[in-house]
Amino acid sequence: MGVGPGDPALLTVAAVRAIEAADVVTYPVARLEAEGMAARIAAPWIGPEQRRLPLLFPMVVEAEPRRQAWHAAAAALAAEVRAQRRVVLLCEGDSSLYASCSYVLLALAEREPDVPVRVIPGITAAAAAAAAASSAGMPWPLALQQEPLWIRPTPETQPELEQLLEQASAAGAVLALLKLGHRWSWVQPLLAERGLLEQSLFAQRVGWPDQLLARAAAVSPAEQPYFSLLLIRQGWPAVLP
Ligand SMILES: C[S@@+](CC[C@H](N)C(=O)[O-])C[C@H]1O[C@@H](n2cnc3c(N)ncnc32)[C@H](O)[C@@H]1O
Repeated sequence: MGVGPGDPALLTVAAVRAIEAADVVTYPVARLEAEGMAARIAAPWIGPEQRRLPLLFPMVVEAEPRRQAWHAAAAALAAEVRAQRRVVLLCEGDSSLYASCSYVLLALAEREPDVPVRVIPGITAAAAAAAAASSAGMPWPLALQQEPLWIRPTPETQPELEQLLEQASAAGAVLALLKLGHRWSWVQPLLAERGLLEQSLFAQRVGWPDQLLARAAAVSPAEQPYFSLLLIRQGWPAVLP
C-alpha cells in the first residue's frame, strides 16, 4: 500500500484502516538495521501490538541479489497469509510508481498466484510537491487542459536531458523528474543555460519537517539528497484566468 511522500496525514483512510487491521506490518529496508522510509511515514498508525517485519531490498545494480530479495519478500508475505495472518506491505509514495512493492507484486503473481492481494494507492511525491508549492504561494498545476504530464526518472546524461526537454517542449508536456539527487549538480546549469530555472520547481523531502520547495533558480547546483524531484513547465495553455 502507498503511504504517501512523508507526512503521516497524507496516508489515505483506506491505508490507515488496512494498517490498523493488520497483524503484521512489513516494509522495505536497504539494510536490516535501517528503519525504512515507508515505516517512518506510517509510524503513527502502527500499534505496539503489531509485528513489524522489515523486508531487505539491497540497493545494488546486479540483477540476481535484487531478484532473490523480491522472491524472498513474496515468500515471506505468502507465509504470513497462509498462517491466517493479515499482512500489509508499506510503500513510500504511490504503490505502483517506481515502487519496490511492484516487484513483490509481480513475484507474488508468479510464484503464489493463489494468495489474495489488494493494492491501495498512495499520494505520489510529484502530486504532493505541486500541492505544497501551490499552498506556499507558487501556484503549480501539474497539468491543464490537453497538456501531457510526463513522470520520468531524471536522465543519466546531459544530452539525454536536452533531448527530453526538447521533446516535452514540442509536445507541450509538463515534466516531473524523479531520482534527481546527485544529478542536480549538472541539471541546474543546464536549466540555467536554457532559461528554464524560473519555470522549474525543486522539491525536496516533501511532507517532512525539513521539506524544501523552491524555484530552481534559488537552489545551488550542488548534489542533493535522493528524495528530491523537479517539476518543469516550459509553457502554459493559451486560455487561462
Ligand atoms: C523510487 S521513486 C519512488 C516514487 C514513489 N513511489 C512516489 O509515488 O512518489 C523515488 C523518487 O521519488 C521522489 N520522491 C519520493 N518521495 C519524495 C519526497 N518526499 N520528496 C521529494 N521527492 C520524493 C524522488 O525523486 C525520489 O528519488
